[in-house]
Amino acid sequence: KFMGELMGLNVLEEQLKGKLHVKKVLIIPGNSDENDWVKREMGKACVTFLQSIMKEKMIIAVTGGTTMAAVANAMTPLNKSKDYLFLPARGAIGEKAENQSNRIVTEMAERANGEYRLLYVPDPLSETAYQTLLTEPSIQDVLQQIKSADVVIHGIGDAITMANRRKTSEEIMTKLQSNSAVSEAFGYYFDEFGNIIHKVRTLGIQLEDLNSMDHVLAVAGGKSKAKAIVSYFKQGKSDLLITDEAAAKQILRG
Ligand code: G3H
Repeated sequence: KFMGELMGLNVLEEQLKGKLHVKKVLIIPGNSDENDWVKREMGKACVTFLQSIMKEKMIIAVTGGTTMAAVANAMTPLNKSKDYLFLPARGAIGEKAENQSNRIVTEMAERANGEYRLLYVPDPLSETAYQTLLTEPSIQDVLQQIKSADVVIHGIGDAITMANRRKTSEEIMTKLQSNSAVSEAFGYYFDEFGNIIHKVRTLGIQLEDLNSMDHVLAVAGGKSKAKAIVSYFKQGKSDLLITDEAAAKQILRG
């Protein structure tokens, strides 16, 4: 029975690759909306994949969220050398401290015996502060490292769920709703066609930077994220999706 289930997931992975136009898909059994262990398993799968692509002096940029926190939780030393670096992909975008990328990269580095650097950016960030921070040498230094990341790991969220969870103003909320935002990743909000509806103003990786990165890994599961995952992959910048069975089946039904 177990082998049968595994083969079933392989078939789902192939179907999902075709549907989302993504190079590689890994599916974990279960539904992470309902069971926390499914998210933990997605985290472990992500770490295992990281080990398979690890090279010396790799720079790994990571976003925030509970799924990335699960990846951090599953982190183990990645290879014999210790000279890899974890960085937040972008500045704070309204998340609670435990879901912020600064905290997540700290935990990843500790568990992996790697290094980390943080990006101190006030949250939310005004246009004036943004322009000023851009000229700060210490910030420029981290930003340059972020932009040269070899690996980016990120979550994908349902747009309205994420906007509610963050310090989103009434004005932006209305903008998201009236433009039918469906998904969110990296602080970018997308509609069902993958158009950018809104972007949280912060420093760090911009969507176009993903084109030049060797590995962009998306980790997102749960039946409730099916539409969001489809929407995000419409502009398709990530080359691996780690998801769960419930999300996969719901996507393929749609
Ligand atoms: O950008 C997407 C969100 O960070 C996903 O958050 O993993 O807590 O669902 P989550």
